[in-house]
Amino acid sequence: MIQAIIFDLDGVLLSTDELHYAAWKTVADELGIPFDRQVNNRLRGVSRMASLEIILEHGGVVLSPEEKEAVATRKNDRYRASLMTLTSEIVAPEVRETLTALKQRGLKLAVGSSSKNTKLILERADLASYFDAVSDGTNITRSKPDPEVFLKAAAFLGLSPSVCAVVEDAVAGIDAANGGGFLSIGIGDAAGYSRTDRPIRALSELLQMV
Ligand code: G6P
Ligand code: MG
Repeated sequence: MIQAIIFDLDGVLLSTDELHYAAWKTVADELGIPFDRQVNNRLRGVSRMASLEIILEHGGVVLSPEEKEAVATRKNDRYRASLMTLTSEIVAPEVRETLTALKQRGLKLAVGSSSKNTKLILERADLASYFDAVSDGTNITRSKPDPEVFLKAAAFLGLSPSVCAVVEDAVAGIDAANGGGFLSIGIGDAAGYSRTDRPIRALSELLQMV
C-alpha cells in the first residue's frame, strides 16, 4: 500500500532544462567548448560538478580543482539569475491538479532532487505548499544513482521506502529508486527504461495507481 510519493523536480514537476542550457552554454563558450542540446540532455539528473566534468571531457579541456569551482560558481550565478524570471506558469495545470488530488486522498508528498536550488525553484514556481518534505542537493553527499536523496526524503516523512513510490524522468533516478527499495514510476525518458516498475505518460496516471 503506497502511503507517499516522492517526486523528482526537473523533468517531472517542471522543466528548467532551457535555463540550465543557457547558463552552461555561456560558460562553455567562455572556455571555447562546443556545447549543444544533445550534450545538455546528458546532464539531466546529474549534479552540478558531475555536469561540468562531462562538459570538460566533451571539450577535451583540463582544469584544476580551483578553476572547476570557479566555473561551476559562474554557471550557478547565471542559472540563479535566470530562475528569478521563473513564475508559477512553468508548472502545467495537470501537475497542480494531480498534486492536489493526491493530497486529498491522504498521500504524503515529497520532493527528491539533486539540485541545490530546489527550494528556490519550489518557491518561484509556487509549488512549496504541496509538499510535506524536501530532500535535495543540500542534504546529500552522493548523487543519483545512489538512493541517498530518496532515502532522506522517506526519513523526513517518517516512512519506510517500502510504502513510498518515486516518480522520475531520468534513468539514474530510476536506478536510485530501485536501489533504495522504492516502487519506481518512470515518465518521459524513464518510461522507456527496462528497470522502471511502472511507466506513465502523464502525471495524472498516478491517480489510477493509488
Ligand atoms: C537536477 C537537474 C540537473 C542539474 C542538477 C543540479 O538534477 O536535472 O540538470 O545539474 O539538478 O542542479 P543545481 O541546481 O544544484 O546546479
Ligand atoms: Mg529529472
